Amino acid sequence: METAKYVLEARGISRTYKGEVPVYALKETDLAFTEGEFVAIIGRSGSGKSTLLRILATLDVSDTGELYIEGEKVSGLKDAELARFRRRRIGFIYQDYNLFPEYTAYENIVFPIHLDGRTEDKAAVEKLMEDLGILHCRDKFPHEMSGGEQQRTSIARALATEPAVILADEPTGNLDAENSQKVAELLKFCSEEYRRTIVMVTHDQGMANYADRIIRISDGVVTE
Ligand SMILES: Nc1ncnc2c1ncn2[C@@H]1O[C@H](COP(=O)(O)OP(=O)(O)OP(=O)(O)O)[C@@H](O)[C@H]1O
Ligand SMILES: [Mg+2]
Repeated sequence: METAKYVLEARGISRTYKGEVPVYALKETDLAFTEGEFVAIIGRSGSGKSTLLRILATLDVSDTGELYIEGEKVSGLKDAELARFRRRRIGFIYQDYNLFPEYTAYENIVFPIHLDGRTEDKAAVEKLMEDLGILHCRDKFPHEMSGGEQQRTSIARALATEPAVILADEPTGNLDAENSQKVAELLKFCSEEYRRTIVMVTHDQGMANYADRIIRISDGVVTE
């Protein structure tokens, strides 16, 4: 299949937020990402970065166009199928970590594996935690961890299901310079060592410089 050479491909996707004044948040966008690629999406506030990322993550649906993940057409799938697809193929990293406060770091990381009805490989999870420098947080709750540790836990959670793609929306928005750098290095490591495709939204040029490729977006249009 011709599209299978891309891990993630979007063709002609648009998204308009309807209201008194419609907002054309994304206009006829084509994008393609290959295996192991680390891409930064950069643009001003309101330029459509989060809209784009949510559509790529199948958390939102575009009005036009098609989305393919590992050559499979995702557009038009029913909710249940889509949820299953998302659980297995996509990891999402949020600016505010989005960890469950009542779960330990370890429990947070294995949550999506359990959600998928599988049992984790304990040694593999602990190796991942060691790689991300959070093994010492194994049995800690989020409120007992620093922001950087929480974000690295959320990165581990995104990696745990071995998804094809990891999408991160401003993953370092709440972190200081040192921790931001650490997270950027880790994402780069994930793309190189684990061959994950990583798409990261940022408005920080310094963060974007870690990426293999930078995509610029302005008023819902990719300007490259
Ligand atoms: N749920 C919504 N309803 C209506 N308009 C929205 C909605 N979400 C976003 N928008 C509008 O769509 C445009 C793009 O928003 P988006 O959140 O994608 O921007 P962004 O590039 O992520 O900005 P930021 O850097 O501030 O996070 C903006 O004009 C925004 O006001
Ligand atoms: Mg945003």
